[in-house]
Amino acid sequence: MTGELEQVKKKKVAHVPIITIDGPSGTGKGTISQLLAKHFGYHLLDSGALYRVLALSAQNHDVDVSNAEGILVLAEHLDVQFVSAPNSDSVKVILEGEDVSHTIRNEEVGSRASLVAAIPAVRIALLSRQRAFREKPGLVADGRDMGTVVFSDAMTKVFLTASPEERANRRYKQLKAKGQDASLAALTEAIRLRDERDLNRSVAPLKPAQDAVSIDTDKMTIEAVFEQVKTLHQTHLASC
Ligand code: DC
Repeated sequence: MTGELEQVKKKKVAHVPIITIDGPSGTGKGTISQLLAKHFGYHLLDSGALYRVLALSAQNHDVDVSNAEGILVLAEHLDVQFVSAPNSDSVKVILEGEDVSHTIRNEEVGSRASLVAAIPAVRIALLSRQRAFREKPGLVADGRDMGTVVFSDAMTKVFLTASPEERANRRYKQLKAKGQDASLAALTEAIRLRDERDLNRSVAPLKPAQDAVSIDTDKMTIEAVFEQVKTLHQTHLASC
């Protein structure tokens, strides 16, 4: 009976189309994913936010990022909710009842997130939470290992790249536009360090899935990238 139930469940989830958008930060993954989710009416998983929330929770509970066991306990009991705001494309991130949508976006939290994300047991602990986003009518999943690990059976897999200089530049402009202080040199160095950690970790390192389409976004507008992925997914939908 359990076996039959498993089969039924597998069949159900197999019919949910998924688009995975992987790549390093600053490649426009978040914006492209939001546009795609809106266009196709799909759910959206921002998996980086999950690692960022965990890093913030560690900070709030005074658990050092080098304490792998402590971080794992936090990951297993993470009280986080992603709430779609009415009349808005944005999703509110609520940690233990507090809106942390803005706090999790700062550079310090991003850097800590990459440290907690390198703990193998933590990645396993967060797997089922991420897979629970696979719901009809479809899902756009944004991250580092969406196409390689979390949704390795996804219908459309994309890997976005851009040079570190271009990514630092984009981040610099974003922060300036928000009226925040920023140093281009410091941002470039932070990006380089984070890339190094994400690329070289032992589990689920940042890399394209074998069946992913890689897009170099350096000289492309957001709209052009969105159009390319949209067309690719439409082709996949039409052929199944
Ligand atoms: O995409 P982001 O900048 O919000 O991600 C923050 C950190 O989380 C990033 O440095 C690496 C980690 N991460 C990960 O290891 N796996 C994911 N699927 C998403 C993010």
